[in-house]
Amino acid sequence: MESTPKAWQATLAYWLECGLMFRSGSQLEFHTPPPRVRGGPSLARPSLAPPVLPVAPEERPPAPHRPLSSWAVPGDAGGSIPAQSQPPPPPPQEMIGARIETPLPALVPAAERPAVLARMATEVADCAQCPLAKTRTQTVFGVGTAEASVCFVGEGPGAEEDLRGEPFVGAAGRLLDQMLHAIALERSQVFIANVVKCRPPGNRNPHTEEVLACQDYLFRQLEIIRPKVIFCLGKFALLCLTGHAEAVGQARGRSFSWRGIPVIASFHPAYYLRTPSRKRAAWEDLLRLMKQLHQTE
Ligand code: URA
Repeated sequence: MESTPKAWQATLAYWLECGLMFRSGSQLEFHTPPPRVRGGPSLARPSLAPPVLPVAPEERPPAPHRPLSSWAVPGDAGGSIPAQSQPPPPPPQEMIGARIETPLPALVPAAERPAVLARMATEVADCAQCPLAKTRTQTVFGVGTAEASVCFVGEGPGAEEDLRGEPFVGAAGRLLDQMLHAIALERSQVFIANVVKCRPPGNRNPHTEEVLACQDYLFRQLEIIRPKVIFCLGKFALLCLTGHAEAVGQARGRSFSWRGIPVIASFHPAYYLRTPSRKRAAWEDLLRLMKQLHQTE
């Protein structure tokens, strides 16, 4: 990489702004010695004249591994990032749905599952791992039986869910209830959860970092309940559990699994509220669910 005078001036300006350097007369000084660039000049007392720093790309050290907790979240001024520096870019969406190949842990005995889930719900209620904690009324853990054969997974709580602390109680939820009734099921016979447990403000899509911060709760719920089938309501559930990032319409009817548990891809009920003429697709997916349930009996 060739270092141009202009680029060097910009770098010095940035270091000054970050407080790495200070002005001493006509000189710029570092507060602490900078790292030496292999083959480059000493930077102990740089002048404003641009030094030439021949750093070949292959000489650059590899980017350090960054733990998830270090990703900056828009609006979050916390962390160890200097206040004036540019926040790093958000994590790429491809980080969601990274395949987990580890086998499922030992099955929690059915009699212990409600208590295990209840303990987890208390933990989730105190969660402050992402900025959604600041805007939520309460967390929305999930509802249903710990012995469910089917888990329905949505995206995240909306306004009504945030107020009531229960998933799918708004307009989309009423449609989900109808879908359940269509296959002779009640809420109390399944488990309903979301990818994120807190409401994204204004019902926006959850950000990648929010999904990454929260998805482990969903995974743990599924590990504990160990349903026979997972029914994904919309693209976020599908992305999170299978890594499928294309449109749900392309995934419907294809076979997916999450750690050995069959996953059915379906549209989010809110989609049918916007496009009632597509409701037939819901019925087709529910039939797939019934078929899968009978196969795994
Ligand atoms: N939409 C979701 O994805 N989840 C809810 O709980 C409500 C609406």
